[in-house]
Parts: sequence; structure tokens; C-alpha cells
Amino acid sequence: MTKLGVMCSGRGTDLQSIIDAIQRGELNAEISIVLTDKPNVMALERADKAGIKNICVDRKKFSNRADFEKELLKNLEGVDLVVLAGFMRILSPEFVRHYEGRLMNIHPSLLPAFPGAHAHRDVLAYGVKVSGCTVHFVDEGTDSGPIILQAAVEVHDDDTEETLSARILEKEHIIYPQAIKLFVEGKLKIVGRHVIIKGR
Ligand code: GAR
Repeated sequence: MTKLGVMCSGRGTDLQSIIDAIQRGELNAEISIVLTDKPNVMALERADKAGIKNICVDRKKFSNRADFEKELLKNLEGVDLVVLAGFMRILSPEFVRHYEGRLMNIHPSLLPAFPGAHAHRDVLAYGVKVSGCTVHFVDEGTDSGPIILQAAVEVHDDDTEETLSARILEKEHIIYPQAIKLFVEGKLKIVGRHVIIKGR
């Protein structure tokens, strides 16, 4: 059974979509651990409720990133795929290399448009008519790794960051479990910056 390590920073609705897909029998994987970089966040409660081991590796308690990441790595030992689900920290090139091809992220825009920590704000400020979300393998850049799946939504004239993010989240909750399922079934092949999906 493929073992997942899910890393979150807050609310954890993307985490919940993965838990739900496993519980519905749609995703043949187990979440070995949920890690957060902040204490008292909803992601920890969601993991608790689902009976999943969860640990807060509080970034504030570490004087440097190397020590923080050493603790993350220790807790992720034995995991086959690391899933970033609203994890709002940039990981070092060393961490990324350690999990090359086994580290996924979801970003709330149609990459390569609007990378970074304020995608919804940037989308609304720019005035694009379509946005969405992207699941990608993580490389050493920011939101720049090979793309696995994307889904689009319309941007409305009266959208706020909240309404746009809610519409995009609905799609996130569909495509993140799908992308993980493709990985689990061995259907993803990374060729340069392309991800070939077997059988498509
Ligand atoms: C999601 O919209 C996810 O795409 C985004 O954070 C949100 C987490 O929501 N991730 C990033 O912006 C990563 N750069 P959640 O805590 O409810 O899952």
C-alpha cells in the first residue's frame, strides 16, 4: 500500500479531500502521517478525527531551516509520496532533491500564471477571465515543477478572493486525489518538464 505523508499549514480542506477519497475506496493509499509547520491548525484536527498520526513541527521552534527540515525528514521516513496540501513554506533544494519525483504540490492558479503565495489576489488584480488549479511535481523553483493535472474555472466580475478561492477549491478537491491516484497506480512518467500519463 502506498504510504503518503501530507504536509499542511492551515485549514486542511485539500487534506480532507484525500482522506475522503481513501475512505470512499477511490484511492488505494494510506496516509502515514500529517505534518504541519504551525500548531493548533484545523489540519491537525482533521487528521485526529480520521485516526491519522499527526505532528506539528513548529517552524518557530527551529533557529534555521536545515534543522526544521531535518525534523520533517525524520517524521517522513518510510513515506512513498510527500503531498503538500496548503503547505505555505518554500522547501530547500536539498529537501526537494531528496524527494525528487515523489513530492507533489497543489497551487490555486493555472500555472505558470500566478505562482507564489497570493495567487487569487494576483488573478483578480490582473483581470484574467479564467483561472483554476494545478497539481505538479515540486522542483527547486517556486511552483515551477512538471504539471500533472489542471482544472479551470471562470473568473466572475464580482469575484472576491473568497468567492474565487471557494470555486477553485471545489476543483482542487477533485484533481488532487486524482493526481495521487495516478501516482499510486504507477501511471505518471516524468520526461523533462512533461508528465506523461499512461493510458491517456
Ligand atoms: C489551497 O487553495 C491550495 O491550493 C493553496 O492553499 C490552499 C490550502 O487550503 N496552496 C498554495 O497556495 C500553495 N502555494 P486548505 O488548507 O483548505 O487545504
